[in-house]
Amino acid sequence: MALKTQLVVGNWKMNTRRDAASALAQAVAEKRAEGVDCALCVPFPYLGLVGSAIAGTGLKLGAQDVSDCDDGAYTGEVSAGMLRDVGCDYVIVGHSERRQRHAESSALVAAKAARAIDAGLTPIVCVGESLEAREAGQTLTVIADQLAPVLDLGAERLGSIVLAYEPVWAIGTGLSASVDQAVEVHRSIRIALRQRAPNVAAEVRLLYGGSVKPASAAALFAGEDIDGGLIGGASLDSDQFLAICHAARTN
Ligand code: PGA
Repeated sequence: MALKTQLVVGNWKMNTRRDAASALAQAVAEKRAEGVDCALCVPFPYLGLVGSAIAGTGLKLGAQDVSDCDDGAYTGEVSAGMLRDVGCDYVIVGHSERRQRHAESSALVAAKAARAIDAGLTPIVCVGESLEAREAGQTLTVIADQLAPVLDLGAERLGSIVLAYEPVWAIGTGLSASVDQAVEVHRSIRIALRQRAPNVAAEVRLLYGGSVKPASAAALFAGEDIDGGLIGGASLDSDQFLAICHAARTN
């Protein structure tokens, strides 16, 4: 059983328009769960809008990607400093959809995480294996490889990150890892953290993501070393997202 405050993060991905974004954020803010940390990671164009909608409610704002560079001549990129400036506390880095579609390497993901931390953001660093890797018995090896450059960021920075285990085969598929499968990976991540950053390892929140729904959330969030969730599809429905947030509260 996790002892720290759990964290539930909605990843809206490339969804919503102004009206829908505003209505969704307001609906979540109105019935926000007490005793659990909640954040909404929304598309870049709606950060300001959602930030205003949730201001003063305790809900936190996040983005879905960040540049590994500081401000400058990087067309189309968004810096960590800009995200801080518009009120973000969190940013997702290394989501599998970016690793796949944009060929983001684990080294680049770690560099993005470092920029985020240095700007005062909390990066939510995603790792996860493909179905082929799982079926080949390579899950823990893949996770360890993805984690390696992140662990190299050093103990001080590691104290400022959140890690999300998101099996690629469970994202948006309706298939969730079983509690045992999730716990096995989370435990391996915690052990790796303990080896590299013993003083902060227990404090780092490890989220599970991959088709978390209201019906599956409570059991997953009760799993050892599972400190909350990264929620995609279900975060676009305020009732479902709130139900998942409330499931975290009871642990
Ligand atoms: P999902 O997405 O909940 O729709 O599976 C999770 C994620 O990709 O963060």
